[in-house]
Amino acid sequence: MKKMISIFIVFILALSITACAEKNTESNSSTAEEGKYSEITEAVDDDLQKTDNSNVLVVYFSNTGTTEQIAKLIGEILDADMHQIIAKAPYTDEDRDYTNNSSRCNREQADETARPEIDGNVENLEQYDTIFLGYPIWHGQAPRIISTFIESYDFSDKIIIPFCTSHSSGIGSSADNLHELVQGATWKEGERFSVDSDKQEVQKWIDRLGISFHVTEEAVGVFDMENKKVKLNSGYDMPIVGLGTYALSDEECYNSVRALLENGGRLIDTAYMYHNEAAVGRAVRDSGVPREEIFVTTKIYPSQFGNPKAAIDLALETLDIEYIDLMLLHHPGKGDVDAYKTMEQYVADGKIKSIGLSNWYIKELENFLPQVSITPAVVQNEIHPYYQETDVIPYIQNLGIVVESWFPLGGRGYTKELLINETIMKIAENHNVSAAQVILRWDLQNGVIVMPGSSNPKHIKENLDVFDFELSEDEMNQIRGLNRDEKHDWY
Ligand SMILES: NC(=O)c1ccc[n+]([C@@H]2O[C@H](COP(=O)([O-])OP(=O)(O)OC[C@H]3O[C@@H](n4cnc5c(N)ncnc54)[C@H](OP(=O)(O)O)[C@@H]3O)[C@@H](O)[C@H]2O)c1
Ligand SMILES: Cc1cc2nc3c(=O)[nH]c(=O)nc-3n(C[C@H](O)[C@H](O)[C@H](O)COP(=O)(O)O)c2cc1C
Repeated sequence: MKKMISIFIVFILALSITACAEKNTESNSSTAEEGKYSEITEAVDDDLQKTDNSNVLVVYFSNTGTTEQIAKLIGEILDADMHQIIAKAPYTDEDRDYTNNSSRCNREQADETARPEIDGNVENLEQYDTIFLGYPIWHGQAPRIISTFIESYDFSDKIIIPFCTSHSSGIGSSADNLHELVQGATWKEGERFSVDSDKQEVQKWIDRLGISFHVTEEAVGVFDMENKKVKLNSGYDMPIVGLGTYALSDEECYNSVRALLENGGRLIDTAYMYHNEAAVGRAVRDSGVPREEIFVTTKIYPSQFGNPKAAIDLALETLDIEYIDLMLLHHPGKGDVDAYKTMEQYVADGKIKSIGLSNWYIKELENFLPQVSITPAVVQNEIHPYYQETDVIPYIQNLGIVVESWFPLGGRGYTKELLINETIMKIAENHNVSAAQVILRWDLQNGVIVMPGSSNPKHIKENLDVFDFELSEDEMNQIRGLNRDEKHDWY
Protein backbone atom coordinates (compact mmCIF):
# COMPACT_ATOMS: atom_id res chain seq x y z
CA MET A 1 0.00 0.00 0.00
CA LYS A 2 1.26 3.42 -0.82
CA LYS A 3 3.08 5.18 1.93
CA MET A 4 0.79 8.13 2.40
CA ILE A 5 -2.22 5.88 2.62
CA SER A 6 -0.58 3.94 5.36
CA ILE A 7 -0.65 6.99 7.57
CA PHE A 8 -4.40 6.70 7.52
CA ILE A 9 -4.33 3.12 8.46
CA VAL A 10 -4.02 1.74 11.90
CA PHE A 11 -4.63 -1.58 13.38
CA ILE A 12 -7.94 -2.37 14.87
CA LEU A 13 -6.85 -2.13 18.45
CA ALA A 14 -7.71 1.50 17.90
CA LEU A 15 -11.31 0.51 18.26
CA SER A 16 -10.81 0.16 21.98
CA ILE A 17 -9.24 3.56 22.13
CA THR A 18 -11.30 6.47 23.19
CA ALA A 19 -10.81 9.65 21.29
CA CYS A 20 -7.96 11.62 22.64
CA ALA A 21 -8.32 15.06 24.05
CA GLU A 22 -5.42 17.27 24.91
CA LYS A 23 -5.24 17.85 28.58
CA ASN A 24 -6.46 21.25 29.35
CA THR A 25 -5.09 22.29 32.66
CA GLU A 26 -3.63 25.65 33.36
CA SER A 27 -0.17 24.27 33.86
CA ASN A 28 0.08 22.42 30.60
CA SER A 29 -2.28 23.99 28.14
CA SER A 30 0.49 25.37 26.01
CA THR A 31 2.55 22.21 26.44
CA ALA A 32 -0.28 20.24 25.00
CA GLU A 33 -0.67 22.68 22.17
CA GLU A 34 2.96 22.76 21.16
CA GLY A 35 4.00 19.32 22.32
CA LYS A 36 3.13 16.19 20.44
CA TYR A 37 1.27 14.40 23.16
CA SER A 38 -2.13 14.27 24.61
CA GLU A 39 -3.91 12.18 27.15
CA ILE A 40 -7.01 10.11 27.08
CA THR A 41 -8.95 11.86 29.75
CA GLU A 42 -12.43 10.47 29.53
CA ALA A 43 -14.67 8.32 27.49
CA VAL A 44 -16.17 10.41 24.75
CA ASP A 45 -19.16 10.25 22.52
CA ASP A 46 -19.50 6.88 20.80
CA ASP A 47 -19.47 8.40 17.36
CA LEU A 48 -16.03 9.83 17.94
CA GLN A 49 -14.70 6.38 18.72
CA LYS A 50 -16.01 4.89 15.52
CA THR A 51 -13.40 3.80 13.07
CA ASP A 52 -14.06 3.70 9.40
CA ASN A 53 -14.01 0.02 8.56
CA SER A 54 -16.33 0.32 5.62
CA ASN A 55 -13.85 -1.83 3.70
CA VAL A 56 -14.39 -4.84 5.99
CA LEU A 57 -17.20 -7.35 5.60
CA VAL A 58 -18.00 -10.27 7.87
CA VAL A 59 -19.79 -12.99 5.90
CA TYR A 60 -20.98 -16.12 7.62
CA PHE A 61 -23.12 -19.18 7.29
CA SER A 62 -24.56 -20.52 10.51
CA ASN A 63 -27.10 -23.19 11.11
CA THR A 64 -27.46 -23.32 14.84
CA GLY A 65 -26.11 -19.91 15.81
CA THR A 66 -22.57 -20.74 16.93
CA THR A 67 -20.77 -19.28 13.93
CA GLU A 68 -23.17 -16.36 13.98
CA GLN A 69 -22.13 -15.57 17.53
CA ILE A 70 -18.44 -15.38 16.53
CA ALA A 71 -19.26 -13.41 13.38
CA LYS A 72 -21.14 -10.87 15.48
CA LEU A 73 -18.19 -10.48 17.84
CA ILE A 74 -15.89 -9.81 14.89
CA GLY A 75 -18.43 -7.33 13.53
CA GLU A 76 -18.66 -5.63 16.91
CA ILE A 77 -14.92 -5.39 17.38
CA LEU A 78 -14.32 -4.06 13.88
CA ASP A 79 -17.53 -2.15 13.48
CA ALA A 80 -17.72 -3.96 10.15
CA ASP A 81 -20.63 -4.70 7.86
CA MET A 82 -22.24 -8.12 8.21
CA HIS A 83 -23.79 -10.52 5.75
CA GLN A 84 -25.40 -13.84 6.57
CA ILE A 85 -25.45 -16.54 3.91
CA ILE A 86 -28.92 -18.03 3.92
CA ALA A 87 -29.75 -21.27 2.17
CA LYS A 88 -32.64 -21.04 -0.26
CA ALA A 89 -33.82 -24.37 1.13
CA PRO A 90 -33.22 -24.04 4.88
CA TYR A 91 -31.50 -26.91 6.64
CA THR A 92 -33.81 -28.83 8.95
CA ASP A 93 -32.80 -30.89 11.98
CA GLU A 94 -33.21 -33.93 9.81
CA ASP A 95 -30.93 -32.45 7.13
CA ARG A 96 -28.26 -31.90 9.76
CA ASP A 97 -28.34 -35.41 11.14
CA TYR A 98 -24.73 -36.37 10.65
CA THR A 99 -25.34 -39.86 12.03
CA ASN A 100 -27.44 -40.61 8.98
CA ASN A 101 -25.30 -41.22 5.89
CA SER A 102 -28.02 -40.13 3.55
CA SER A 103 -28.98 -36.91 5.37
CA ARG A 104 -28.83 -33.79 3.22
CA CYS A 105 -25.72 -32.39 4.91
CA ASN A 106 -23.89 -35.69 4.64
CA ARG A 107 -24.76 -36.10 0.98
CA GLU A 108 -23.66 -32.58 0.15
CA GLN A 109 -20.40 -32.93 2.03
CA ALA A 110 -19.66 -36.20 0.26
CA ASP A 111 -20.12 -34.51 -3.12
CA GLU A 112 -17.44 -31.94 -3.97
CA THR A 113 -19.57 -30.55 -6.76
CA ALA A 114 -22.66 -29.88 -4.61
CA ARG A 115 -23.59 -26.18 -4.67
CA PRO A 116 -26.64 -25.51 -2.47
CA GLU A 117 -28.48 -22.42 -3.62
CA ILE A 118 -28.26 -19.16 -1.68
CA ASP A 119 -31.09 -16.79 -0.93
CA GLY A 120 -30.07 -13.16 -1.53
CA ASN A 121 -26.66 -11.72 -2.28
CA VAL A 122 -24.04 -9.24 -1.06
CA GLU A 123 -24.56 -5.89 -2.66
CA ASN A 124 -21.45 -3.94 -3.58
CA LEU A 125 -18.92 -6.59 -2.71
CA GLU A 126 -16.42 -4.43 -4.59
CA GLN A 127 -16.45 -1.87 -1.76
CA TYR A 128 -14.86 -4.40 0.60
CA ASP A 129 -11.22 -5.34 0.51
CA THR A 130 -11.14 -7.54 3.58
CA ILE A 131 -13.64 -10.32 4.06
CA PHE A 132 -14.00 -12.48 7.13
CA LEU A 133 -15.63 -15.72 6.04
CA GLY A 134 -17.21 -17.88 8.72
CA TYR A 135 -18.76 -21.32 8.63
CA PRO A 136 -19.38 -24.38 10.78
CA ILE A 137 -17.18 -27.41 10.19
CA TRP A 138 -19.10 -30.17 8.56
CA HIS A 139 -17.16 -33.40 8.34
CA GLY A 140 -13.89 -31.55 8.52
CA GLN A 141 -14.77 -29.14 5.71
CA ALA A 142 -16.69 -25.94 5.01
CA PRO A 143 -20.31 -26.60 4.06
CA ARG A 144 -20.72 -26.71 0.28
CA ILE A 145 -22.85 -23.58 0.45
CA ILE A 146 -19.59 -21.70 1.16
CA SER A 147 -18.34 -22.94 -2.20
CA THR A 148 -21.53 -21.61 -3.79
CA PHE A 149 -20.86 -18.27 -2.13
CA ILE A 150 -17.25 -17.83 -3.10
CA GLU A 151 -17.88 -18.90 -6.68
CA SER A 152 -20.55 -16.20 -6.99
CA TYR A 153 -18.26 -13.17 -6.66
CA ASP A 154 -15.01 -11.72 -7.86
CA PHE A 155 -12.52 -11.75 -4.99
CA SER A 156 -9.54 -10.45 -6.95
CA ASP A 157 -7.18 -8.42 -4.77
CA LYS A 158 -9.28 -9.03 -1.67
CA ILE A 159 -8.06 -10.46 1.59
CA ILE A 160 -10.10 -13.39 2.84
CA ILE A 161 -9.85 -14.37 6.48
CA PRO A 162 -11.59 -17.65 7.20
CA PHE A 163 -12.90 -18.65 10.60
CA CYS A 164 -15.01 -21.56 11.68
CA THR A 165 -16.74 -23.12 14.61
CA SER A 166 -16.92 -26.80 15.34
CA HIS A 167 -17.61 -29.29 18.04
CA SER A 168 -13.96 -30.25 18.35
CA SER A 169 -12.25 -30.32 14.94
CA GLY A 170 -9.73 -27.66 14.01
CA ILE A 171 -10.04 -25.57 10.88
CA GLY A 172 -7.84 -28.23 9.24
CA SER A 173 -7.83 -28.22 5.47
CA SER A 174 -11.27 -26.66 5.22
CA ALA A 175 -10.00 -23.22 4.23
CA ASP A 176 -7.13 -24.52 2.08
CA ASN A 177 -9.64 -26.48 0.04
CA LEU A 178 -11.54 -23.30 -0.72
CA HIS A 179 -8.49 -21.51 -2.10
CA GLU A 180 -8.63 -23.14 -5.49
CA LEU A 181 -12.22 -21.96 -5.99
CA VAL A 182 -11.13 -18.33 -5.73
CA GLN A 183 -8.97 -16.38 -8.15
CA GLY A 184 -6.63 -13.57 -7.15
CA ALA A 185 -7.44 -13.34 -3.43
CA THR A 186 -4.99 -13.37 -0.53
CA TRP A 187 -5.99 -15.89 2.09
CA LYS A 188 -5.00 -15.37 5.69
CA GLU A 189 -4.59 -18.30 8.01
CA GLY A 190 -7.94 -19.09 9.56
CA GLU A 191 -8.97 -19.75 13.12
CA ARG A 192 -11.36 -22.17 14.75
CA PHE A 193 -13.60 -21.11 17.61
CA SER A 194 -15.82 -23.12 19.90
CA VAL A 195 -19.22 -22.40 21.33
CA ASP A 196 -17.43 -21.06 24.46
CA SER A 197 -15.18 -18.57 22.66
CA ASP A 198 -15.59 -15.06 23.98
CA LYS A 199 -14.90 -11.56 22.73
CA GLN A 200 -11.45 -11.46 24.26
CA GLU A 201 -10.41 -14.58 22.37
CA VAL A 202 -11.74 -13.13 19.13
CA GLN A 203 -10.02 -9.81 19.80
CA LYS A 204 -6.71 -11.57 20.42
CA TRP A 205 -6.99 -13.44 17.16
CA ILE A 206 -7.71 -10.20 15.31
CA ASP A 207 -4.71 -8.62 17.01
CA ARG A 208 -2.51 -11.49 15.85
CA LEU A 209 -3.68 -11.21 12.26
CA GLY A 210 -1.60 -8.14 11.56
CA ILE A 211 -4.18 -6.72 9.17
CA SER A 212 -4.63 -2.98 8.91
CA PHE A 213 -8.01 -1.40 9.09
CA HIS A 214 -9.02 2.15 8.39
CA VAL A 215 -9.33 4.39 11.37
CA THR A 216 -8.99 8.05 11.91
CA GLU A 217 -5.64 9.65 11.29
CA GLU A 218 -5.68 11.52 14.58
CA ALA A 219 -5.01 8.41 16.63
CA VAL A 220 -1.59 7.88 15.04
CA GLY A 221 1.33 9.29 16.98
CA VAL A 222 -0.76 10.50 19.90
CA PHE A 223 0.89 9.63 23.19
CA ASP A 224 -1.58 7.97 25.52
CA MET A 225 0.01 8.81 28.86
CA GLU A 226 -2.61 6.88 30.79
CA ASN A 227 -1.99 3.60 29.03
CA LYS A 228 1.65 4.45 28.37
CA LYS A 229 1.54 3.71 24.67
CA VAL A 230 1.29 5.27 21.24
CA LYS A 231 -0.51 4.15 18.11
CA LEU A 232 1.88 3.62 15.21
CA ASN A 233 0.94 4.18 11.56
CA SER A 234 1.15 0.40 11.17
CA GLY A 235 -1.84 0.16 13.47
CA TYR A 236 0.02 -1.38 16.38
CA ASP A 237 0.37 0.12 19.81
CA MET A 238 3.90 0.69 21.05
CA PRO A 239 4.81 1.25 24.71
CA ILE A 240 6.37 4.68 25.14
CA VAL A 241 8.92 3.79 27.83
CA GLY A 242 11.10 0.72 27.87
CA LEU A 243 14.59 -0.67 28.17
CA GLY A 244 17.59 -0.38 25.86
CA THR A 245 19.99 -3.30 25.88
CA TYR A 246 23.04 -1.92 24.10
CA ALA A 247 26.26 -3.07 25.79
CA LEU A 248 24.44 -5.49 28.07
CA SER A 249 26.05 -8.91 28.16
CA ASP A 250 23.84 -11.98 27.96
CA GLU A 251 23.36 -12.40 31.68
CA GLU A 252 22.94 -8.67 32.33
CA CYS A 253 20.53 -8.44 29.46
CA TYR A 254 18.46 -11.39 30.63
CA ASN A 255 18.24 -10.03 34.17
CA SER A 256 17.47 -6.51 33.00
CA VAL A 257 14.68 -7.62 30.70
CA ARG A 258 13.22 -9.74 33.49
CA ALA A 259 13.42 -6.74 35.84
CA LEU A 260 11.71 -4.54 33.27
CA LEU A 261 8.88 -7.00 32.73
CA GLU A 262 8.45 -7.60 36.45
CA ASN A 263 8.08 -3.87 36.97
CA GLY A 264 5.44 -3.50 34.29
CA GLY A 265 7.68 -2.29 31.44
CA ARG A 266 6.83 -3.83 28.09
CA LEU A 267 9.20 -2.28 25.53
CA ILE A 268 12.61 -3.81 24.82
CA ASP A 269 15.16 -2.55 22.34
CA THR A 270 17.84 -4.86 21.01
CA ALA A 271 19.78 -5.33 17.77
CA TYR A 272 21.79 -7.92 15.89
CA MET A 273 24.83 -5.79 16.73
CA TYR A 274 24.22 -6.01 20.48
CA HIS A 275 24.69 -9.79 20.38
CA ASN A 276 22.02 -10.27 23.00
CA GLU A 277 18.86 -11.07 21.02
CA ALA A 278 18.92 -14.62 22.36
CA ALA A 279 18.99 -13.35 25.96
CA VAL A 280 16.11 -10.97 25.22
CA GLY A 281 14.08 -13.80 23.73
CA ARG A 282 14.82 -16.10 26.64
CA ALA A 283 13.80 -13.46 29.18
CA VAL A 284 10.59 -12.74 27.28
CA ARG A 285 9.72 -16.43 27.14
CA ASP A 286 10.61 -17.05 30.79
CA SER A 287 8.76 -13.99 32.06
CA GLY A 288 5.28 -15.46 32.02
CA VAL A 289 4.02 -12.18 30.56
CA PRO A 290 1.76 -12.89 27.58
CA ARG A 291 3.69 -12.42 24.35
CA GLU A 292 1.15 -10.02 22.89
CA GLU A 293 1.72 -7.61 25.80
CA ILE A 294 5.43 -7.31 25.06
CA PHE A 295 6.95 -5.16 22.31
CA VAL A 296 10.39 -6.14 21.07
CA THR A 297 12.39 -4.00 18.68
CA THR A 298 15.43 -5.33 16.91
CA LYS A 299 17.59 -4.02 14.09
CA ILE A 300 19.54 -5.38 11.18
CA TYR A 301 22.96 -3.97 10.53
CA PRO A 302 24.30 -2.58 7.22
CA SER A 303 26.73 -5.51 7.02
CA GLN A 304 23.61 -7.71 6.70
CA PHE A 305 21.88 -5.69 3.97
CA GLY A 306 23.40 -7.89 1.24
CA ASN A 307 21.21 -10.77 2.36
CA PRO A 308 18.32 -9.22 4.27
CA LYS A 309 16.21 -12.36 4.22
CA ALA A 310 18.94 -14.28 6.03
CA ALA A 311 19.31 -11.38 8.48
CA ILE A 312 15.60 -11.29 9.30
CA ASP A 313 15.34 -15.07 9.55
CA LEU A 314 18.32 -15.04 11.88
CA ALA A 315 16.71 -12.41 14.11
CA LEU A 316 13.45 -14.37 14.21
CA GLU A 317 15.32 -17.54 15.02
CA THR A 318 17.60 -15.99 17.63
CA LEU A 319 14.85 -14.11 19.41
CA ASP A 320 12.50 -17.08 19.13
CA ILE A 321 9.43 -15.12 20.19
CA GLU A 322 7.12 -15.94 17.24
CA TYR A 323 7.30 -12.52 15.64
CA ILE A 324 9.15 -9.22 15.85
CA ASP A 325 7.13 -6.19 16.88
CA LEU A 326 9.41 -3.66 15.26
CA MET A 327 12.42 -4.16 13.05
CA LEU A 328 14.64 -1.23 12.09
CA LEU A 329 17.46 -0.78 9.64
CA HIS A 330 20.22 0.14 12.09
CA HIS A 331 21.95 2.68 9.85
CA PRO A 332 21.73 3.86 6.28
CA GLY A 333 24.02 1.78 4.09
CA LYS A 334 24.49 0.06 0.75
CA GLY A 335 21.41 -2.03 -0.01
CA ASP A 336 19.20 -0.35 2.57
CA VAL A 337 16.24 0.09 0.21
CA ASP A 338 16.26 -3.59 -0.74
CA ALA A 339 16.65 -4.59 2.89
CA TYR A 340 13.66 -2.43 3.77
CA LYS A 341 11.61 -3.94 0.94
CA THR A 342 12.42 -7.38 2.31
CA MET A 343 11.14 -6.26 5.71
CA GLU A 344 7.97 -5.14 3.93
CA GLN A 345 7.47 -8.70 2.72
CA TYR A 346 7.82 -10.03 6.26
CA VAL A 347 5.19 -7.53 7.37
CA ALA A 348 2.82 -8.98 4.78
CA ASP A 349 3.55 -12.44 6.17
CA GLY A 350 2.90 -11.28 9.73
CA LYS A 351 6.40 -12.17 10.94
CA ILE A 352 7.25 -8.52 11.57
CA LYS A 353 4.49 -6.23 12.79
CA SER A 354 6.02 -2.82 12.15
CA ILE A 355 9.15 -1.59 10.42
CA GLY A 356 11.25 1.53 10.67
CA LEU A 357 14.64 3.18 10.47
CA SER A 358 17.41 4.25 12.76
CA ASN A 359 19.86 7.09 12.21
CA TRP A 360 17.93 8.54 9.31
CA TYR A 361 17.75 12.31 9.26
CA ILE A 362 15.91 14.74 6.98
CA LYS A 363 18.04 14.33 3.86
CA GLU A 364 18.22 10.58 4.21
CA LEU A 365 14.45 10.36 4.66
CA GLU A 366 13.75 12.61 1.68
CA ASN A 367 15.79 10.28 -0.46
CA PHE A 368 14.60 7.01 1.05
CA LEU A 369 10.84 7.36 1.49
CA PRO A 370 9.87 7.67 -2.18
CA GLN A 371 11.57 4.34 -2.82
CA VAL A 372 9.54 2.23 -0.38
CA SER A 373 5.89 1.27 0.03
CA ILE A 374 5.36 1.17 3.77
CA THR A 375 6.00 4.40 5.62
CA PRO A 376 8.31 3.63 8.54
CA ALA A 377 6.36 3.38 11.77
CA VAL A 378 9.29 4.61 13.87
CA VAL A 379 12.56 6.45 13.39
CA GLN A 380 15.07 5.95 16.20
CA ASN A 381 17.74 8.63 16.50
CA GLU A 382 20.12 10.11 19.05
CA ILE A 383 18.15 12.55 21.17
CA HIS A 384 18.94 14.00 24.59
CA PRO A 385 18.97 17.46 26.16
CA TYR A 386 22.41 18.18 24.69
CA TYR A 387 21.39 16.93 21.24
CA GLN A 388 17.76 17.79 20.66
CA GLU A 389 17.26 17.41 16.91
CA THR A 390 14.80 20.28 17.00
CA ASP A 391 14.48 20.31 13.22
CA VAL A 392 14.47 16.55 12.66
CA ILE A 393 11.84 15.57 15.23
CA PRO A 394 8.97 17.70 13.89
CA TYR A 395 9.91 16.75 10.33
CA ILE A 396 9.58 13.06 11.16
CA GLN A 397 6.46 13.48 13.29
CA ASN A 398 4.73 15.42 10.53
CA LEU A 399 5.12 12.37 8.31
CA GLY A 400 3.03 10.35 10.78
CA ILE A 401 6.17 8.57 11.99
CA VAL A 402 6.84 8.16 15.70
CA VAL A 403 10.25 9.27 16.94
CA GLU A 404 12.25 7.24 19.43
CA SER A 405 15.34 8.40 21.26
CA TRP A 406 18.55 6.49 21.66
CA PHE A 407 21.00 7.73 24.29
CA PRO A 408 18.11 9.42 26.12
CA LEU A 409 20.36 9.96 29.13
CA GLY A 410 23.29 10.99 26.99
CA GLY A 411 24.69 7.49 26.49
CA ARG A 412 26.98 5.31 28.55
CA GLY A 413 29.97 7.34 29.64
CA TYR A 414 28.12 10.65 29.15
CA THR A 415 25.23 10.35 31.56
CA LYS A 416 26.94 11.96 34.50
CA GLU A 417 27.21 15.37 32.92
CA LEU A 418 23.54 15.38 32.09
CA LEU A 419 22.36 13.92 35.36
CA ILE A 420 24.18 16.59 37.38
CA ASN A 421 23.11 19.41 35.12
CA GLU A 422 21.91 22.18 37.40
CA THR A 423 18.78 23.03 35.47
CA ILE A 424 17.71 19.42 35.30
CA MET A 425 18.50 18.81 38.95
CA LYS A 426 16.46 21.83 40.00
CA ILE A 427 13.45 20.67 38.00
CA ALA A 428 13.89 17.20 39.47
CA GLU A 429 13.86 18.68 42.94
CA ASN A 430 10.64 20.58 42.18
CA HIS A 431 8.90 17.33 41.35
CA ASN A 432 10.66 15.16 43.87
CA VAL A 433 11.94 12.86 41.15
CA SER A 434 15.39 12.03 39.77
CA ALA A 435 17.23 13.86 37.00
CA ALA A 436 16.88 10.78 34.80
CA GLN A 437 13.12 10.83 35.28
CA VAL A 438 12.96 14.50 34.32
CA ILE A 439 14.82 13.84 31.08
CA LEU A 440 12.64 10.88 30.19
CA ARG A 441 9.48 12.83 30.94
CA TRP A 442 10.74 15.69 28.80
CA ASP A 443 11.10 13.28 25.88
CA LEU A 444 7.61 11.91 26.39
CA GLN A 445 6.13 15.40 26.47
CA ASN A 446 7.90 16.00 23.16
CA GLY A 447 6.22 12.90 21.75
CA VAL A 448 9.45 10.91 21.80
CA ILE A 449 9.63 7.28 22.94
CA VAL A 450 12.40 6.42 25.39
CA MET A 451 14.19 3.19 26.22
CA PRO A 452 17.09 4.04 28.51
CA GLY A 453 19.73 1.37 28.86
CA SER A 454 20.31 -0.06 32.29
CA SER A 455 21.50 -3.15 34.05
CA ASN A 456 20.44 -1.83 37.42
CA PRO A 457 16.97 -3.01 38.51
CA LYS A 458 16.54 0.12 40.65
CA HIS A 459 17.16 2.34 37.64
CA ILE A 460 14.94 0.18 35.45
CA LYS A 461 12.08 0.60 37.91
CA GLU A 462 12.74 4.31 38.33
CA ASN A 463 12.81 4.88 34.58
CA LEU A 464 9.34 3.41 34.21
CA ASP A 465 7.99 5.68 36.90
CA VAL A 466 7.54 8.85 34.86
CA PHE A 467 3.79 9.18 34.67
CA ASP A 468 2.91 10.73 38.02
CA PHE A 469 4.31 14.17 37.35
CA GLU A 470 4.25 16.62 34.52
CA LEU A 471 6.71 19.26 33.39
CA SER A 472 5.32 22.73 32.95
CA GLU A 473 5.84 24.58 29.69
CA ASP A 474 8.41 26.72 31.46
CA GLU A 475 10.34 23.63 32.57
CA MET A 476 10.13 22.18 29.06
CA ASN A 477 11.58 25.41 27.75
CA GLN A 478 14.38 25.41 30.30
CA ILE A 479 15.44 21.99 29.06
CA ARG A 480 15.07 23.14 25.46
CA GLY A 481 17.57 25.84 26.36
CA LEU A 482 20.21 23.22 27.20
CA ASN A 483 20.63 22.12 23.60
CA ARG A 484 24.24 22.15 22.41
CA ASP A 485 23.81 20.15 19.21
CA GLU A 486 26.39 17.90 20.81
CA LYS A 487 26.31 14.42 19.38
CA HIS A 488 27.62 11.67 21.64
CA ASP A 489 28.19 9.13 18.90
CA TRP A 490 29.37 9.31 15.32
CA TYR A 491 26.19 8.29 13.47
N1 LIG B 1 19.86 2.88 17.00
C1 LIG B 1 21.06 3.16 17.40
O1 LIG B 1 21.96 3.44 16.62
C2 LIG B 1 21.36 3.16 18.88
C3 LIG B 1 22.56 3.66 19.35
C4 LIG B 1 22.78 3.64 20.71
C5 LIG B 1 21.83 3.13 21.56
N2 LIG B 1 20.65 2.61 21.07
C6 LIG B 1 19.61 2.07 21.96
O2 LIG B 1 19.26 3.06 22.89
C7 LIG B 1 19.36 2.51 24.19
C8 LIG B 1 19.69 3.59 25.18
O3 LIG B 1 20.99 4.04 24.99
P1 LIG B 1 22.18 3.69 25.98
O4 LIG B 1 21.77 2.57 26.82
O5 LIG B 1 23.39 3.49 25.18
O6 LIG B 1 22.35 5.04 26.76
P2 LIG B 1 21.44 5.81 27.82
O7 LIG B 1 20.14 5.14 27.97
O8 LIG B 1 21.43 7.23 27.45
O9 LIG B 1 22.29 5.65 29.12
C9 LIG B 1 22.53 4.43 29.72
C10 LIG B 1 23.32 4.69 30.97
O10 LIG B 1 22.48 5.37 31.87
C11 LIG B 1 22.53 4.75 33.13
N3 LIG B 1 21.20 4.88 33.72
C12 LIG B 1 20.05 4.33 33.29
N4 LIG B 1 19.03 4.70 34.06
C13 LIG B 1 19.55 5.51 35.01
C14 LIG B 1 18.99 6.18 36.09
N5 LIG B 1 17.69 6.12 36.37
N6 LIG B 1 19.80 6.91 36.87
C15 LIG B 1 21.13 6.98 36.62
N7 LIG B 1 21.72 6.35 35.60
C16 LIG B 1 20.94 5.62 34.80
C17 LIG B 1 22.92 3.33 32.86
O11 LIG B 1 23.61 2.79 33.93
P3 LIG B 1 23.04 1.56 34.82
O12 LIG B 1 23.20 0.33 33.99
O13 LIG B 1 23.86 1.59 36.04
O14 LIG B 1 21.60 1.84 35.09
C18 LIG B 1 23.81 3.45 31.63
O15 LIG B 1 25.15 3.68 32.01
C19 LIG B 1 20.44 1.47 24.04
O16 LIG B 1 20.48 0.58 25.12
C20 LIG B 1 20.07 0.86 22.74
O17 LIG B 1 19.00 -0.06 22.93
C21 LIG B 1 20.43 2.63 19.74
C1 LIG C 1 -23.43 -32.23 9.26
C2 LIG C 1 -22.56 -31.81 10.37
C3 LIG C 1 -21.26 -32.24 10.40
C4 LIG C 1 -20.41 -31.82 11.43
N1 LIG C 1 -19.11 -32.23 11.42
C5 LIG C 1 -18.29 -31.84 12.40
C6 LIG C 1 -16.93 -32.22 12.40
O1 LIG C 1 -16.42 -32.87 11.50
N2 LIG C 1 -16.16 -31.83 13.45
C7 LIG C 1 -16.65 -31.10 14.48
O2 LIG C 1 -15.92 -30.78 15.39
N3 LIG C 1 -17.93 -30.67 14.48
C8 LIG C 1 -18.76 -31.03 13.48
N4 LIG C 1 -20.05 -30.60 13.47
C9 LIG C 1 -20.50 -29.69 14.53
C10 LIG C 1 -20.50 -28.24 14.04
O3 LIG C 1 -19.34 -27.90 13.34
C11 LIG C 1 -20.63 -27.27 15.21
O4 LIG C 1 -21.72 -27.61 15.98
C12 LIG C 1 -20.71 -25.84 14.72
O5 LIG C 1 -20.25 -24.98 15.75
C13 LIG C 1 -22.09 -25.42 14.34
O6 LIG C 1 -22.08 -24.10 13.89
P1 LIG C 1 -23.40 -23.27 13.62
O7 LIG C 1 -24.16 -23.23 14.93
O8 LIG C 1 -22.94 -21.95 13.23
O9 LIG C 1 -24.14 -23.97 12.54
C14 LIG C 1 -20.91 -30.99 12.45
C15 LIG C 1 -22.23 -30.58 12.41
C16 LIG C 1 -23.05 -30.98 11.38
C17 LIG C 1 -24.46 -30.50 11.33
